[in-house]
Amino acid sequence: MGFPPPTQIKTPPPLPSWLALIQSPFTIPNVAYCAYAFSSPQETELQSMIDSHFPDFQFPAHLKTAVFKRKLHYFLGRACVAQALEQLGHPRVQIETNPDRSPKWPSGILGAVTHTDRLVMTAVTASTHFLGIGIDSEEMSRTTPIEEIAKTFADEHEKQLIHHANLPLKTWLFLIFSAKESLFKALYPIKGEYFGFESARVVSISPDQKMELPSSGSFCIQLTQPKNGFPQGTVFKGLYQVSQSQVHTWIGIPQ
Ligand SMILES: CC(C)(COP(=O)(O)OP(=O)(O)OC[C@H]1O[C@@H](n2cnc3c(N)ncnc32)[C@H](O)[C@@H]1OP(=O)(O)O)[C@@H](O)C(=O)NCCC(=O)NCCS
Repeated sequence: MGFPPPTQIKTPPPLPSWLALIQSPFTIPNVAYCAYAFSSPQETELQSMIDSHFPDFQFPAHLKTAVFKRKLHYFLGRACVAQALEQLGHPRVQIETNPDRSPKWPSGILGAVTHTDRLVMTAVTASTHFLGIGIDSEEMSRTTPIEEIAKTFADEHEKQLIHHANLPLKTWLFLIFSAKESLFKALYPIKGEYFGFESARVVSISPDQKMELPSSGSFCIQLTQPKNGFPQGTVFKGLYQVSQSQVHTWIGIPQ
């Protein structure tokens, strides 16, 4: 009786020139991350990436007629999820989308997806470790200055915390916004209860003692109303990283 044949190790095809795997801003035990930076591919270049890297991939019905940019973001998010799932030892499957637009995670898995015009990032973990996780990235080069719309997502208490944040006002406002988006992604899927920006407040920020960019730190965000099974006053901890042009946040709700 001979030895069984050696397991074939499949080397994935190289990434196209418009796409690059980048380091994720956070390292959290038991969480697998994947992040891609991308430029502006043509539709044919995206299709060729799908054919070579994810040939079984199908756009969901609601995106079949979506604009190219949305399809690009969605596909890269799903490709990133597949890669992160592999790191967890989970099969590289396509994650579908629920009617409420949240990702339909396989049993025992949960995660979060974020995209900007330049990057897509995903975190996945086993539900034995977390009740919910959220990540969010914001590009600070918006056409509408964030200062003009800040009152729609931040209150005076939060704005005053800038004195502890050691950040420019614009970055601080994006951080508040991003922290709330991360909280929503972590909390909403637990019971499916929608909540708006007035339902949570960033109550503290602790920057790491590093002066140059990218800088990072932690924050706490508190529910001002009971939501998704958590009472009013519950405090969630989060992490952030900011650079000259981007803000990233992470929130994990441990089991
Ligand atoms: C859902 C929402 C948070 C997405 O954030 P965004 O900045 O618009 O976009 P991002 O690129 O960061 O994230 C998009 C991803 O969020 C995920 N997502 C969408 N709806 C979701 C939901 N209900 N629950 C969890 N994740 C959701 C999806 O994975 C989506 O990517 P995909 O469609 O490619 O799968 C945002 O659109 C929203 O509805 N916000 C209002 C609710 C809110 O933030 N309340 C504040 C609470 S304090």
